[in-house]
Amino acid sequence: MGLNIIILAAGQGSRMKSDTPKVMHKIAGIPMLERVVRTAQSLSPKKIQVVYGNGGSIVHEALAYLPVEWVKQEHRLGTGHAVLQALPFVDDEDQVLVLLGDVPLISKNTLALLAQETPTNGLGLVVTELSDPSGLGRIIRNEMGNIIAIVEHRDANEQQLKVKEINTGIMITSAKHLKSWLPKLDNKNIQGEYYLTDIVGLAVQEGFFVGGVMAHCQQEVQGVNDRLQLANLEHYFQQEKAKQLALSGVTIMDMNRVYIRGDVVIAQDVTLDTNVMIEGQVSIDSHSSIGPNVIIRDSKISSGVQVGAHSIIEGAVIGPGCKIGPFARLRPGTVLEPGVKIGNFVEVKQSHLGENTKASHLSYIGDAEIGAGVNIGAGTITCNYDGVNKHQTKIGDGVFIGSNTALVAPVKLGAGATIGAGSVITRSAPKGQLTVARAKQCSVDGWQRPEKQPAIESTS
Ligand code: UD1
Ligand code: CA
Repeated sequence: MGLNIIILAAGQGSRMKSDTPKVMHKIAGIPMLERVVRTAQSLSPKKIQVVYGNGGSIVHEALAYLPVEWVKQEHRLGTGHAVLQALPFVDDEDQVLVLLGDVPLISKNTLALLAQETPTNGLGLVVTELSDPSGLGRIIRNEMGNIIAIVEHRDANEQQLKVKEINTGIMITSAKHLKSWLPKLDNKNIQGEYYLTDIVGLAVQEGFFVGGVMAHCQQEVQGVNDRLQLANLEHYFQQEKAKQLALSGVTIMDMNRVYIRGDVVIAQDVTLDTNVMIEGQVSIDSHSSIGPNVIIRDSKISSGVQVGAHSIIEGAVIGPGCKIGPFARLRPGTVLEPGVKIGNFVEVKQSHLGENTKASHLSYIGDAEIGAGVNIGAGTITCNYDGVNKHQTKIGDGVFIGSNTALVAPVKLGAGATIGAGSVITRSAPKGQLTVARAKQCSVDGWQRPEKQPAIESTS
């Protein structure tokens, strides 16, 4: 016996008013469907199946990397019909857990509780109570409090509409029973659909146990049908993430103004100032501080790093004790060894900078291999692009580059070389020597400034 998880994702999501299929919209940087798949994976199932629909082929191509089996539902005939499409690929002895692709924040804990509370021979539902249950299927109980049916909002009578306990759409039962119940469904209801929820009535008729497990919180079973619900869940997720980080030892200056999107690991004693945005795969080690209005994407930041305000860091690996910014821009392929300093208005791309090297002001460093203890003067530019190809600049240990230097790549500066300010370096500079490449200064003796001539008076 194994666990089989079927995720329903064939809906059109028309209320999203979007060219992108609903389940590909993201919560905190990760597509909703991927979030559900990840949670499904955390239960170590035998198999995960995703039911996608017409027009859903973009979903299945864009998210092809997910470890799931894709099952197409040719016609959108209802949730019962959707589950039926996946069943031929499920073993009779397995348990089937049904999840919804547009209920992105369902938690592992609630699902584990559902599995635990539902006997192998029963049917278990995740339910919740809402002050406004409109639009949702109502849980109908008999006088003994046992669940006897789910009635969809549109099919419910006045008394049933008063019920606040609702079906979240998430349920678990055995494949064997699903295979016997689903073909018996009809579509004689207001929507003309084969409702998965009608199996509850069938199960009760056949004397099966039907149980309900309360969701831990409302947000985890909140479905996303429009972009307002998407925005609300995004906000909730960000608040939860900020709380988690704060409780794990991260100082957050403003809990409402930190944005974490993706897979982010932040160590103890890191400080995040206001308006920090962290995206993708990011790790930040202990005692680092991130200034206000900083964006960090797909980067690794070691311990004791200071990132000044308004810096943008993408695809970079930053060693311990580096000082970045304010107003720095690190682009993909930047690797900084310990103690590097990158100051304001310095852009670095695809470059390796050795220990304690400094570029403090106004520079562009691209495609460069730079040694340790190098001083890069203000306004130094690696001219790495000839209009067609990119070229490398190599700078040895202990080089000192004067301000406003252009290094026309490919070019090499030997260890300990000094480059005079304002140089345009087009050939390699030898190690240990001063190289200057600029027009020689001269002074003109006896030169006089031009003076304004008096206006010539008209004689006529
Ligand atoms: C469904 C439940 C309702 C529950 C609610 C919770 C049914 C009949 N109703 O209603 O009791 O309160 O979810 O949000 O199950 N889907 C398919 N193929 C289909 C139809 C739907 O894959 O043919 C997918 C949708 O993409 C969606 C999910 O199933 O992810 C639910 O379908 P939806 O039409 O949104 O059902 P609701 O009316 O919300
Ligand atoms: Ca729905």
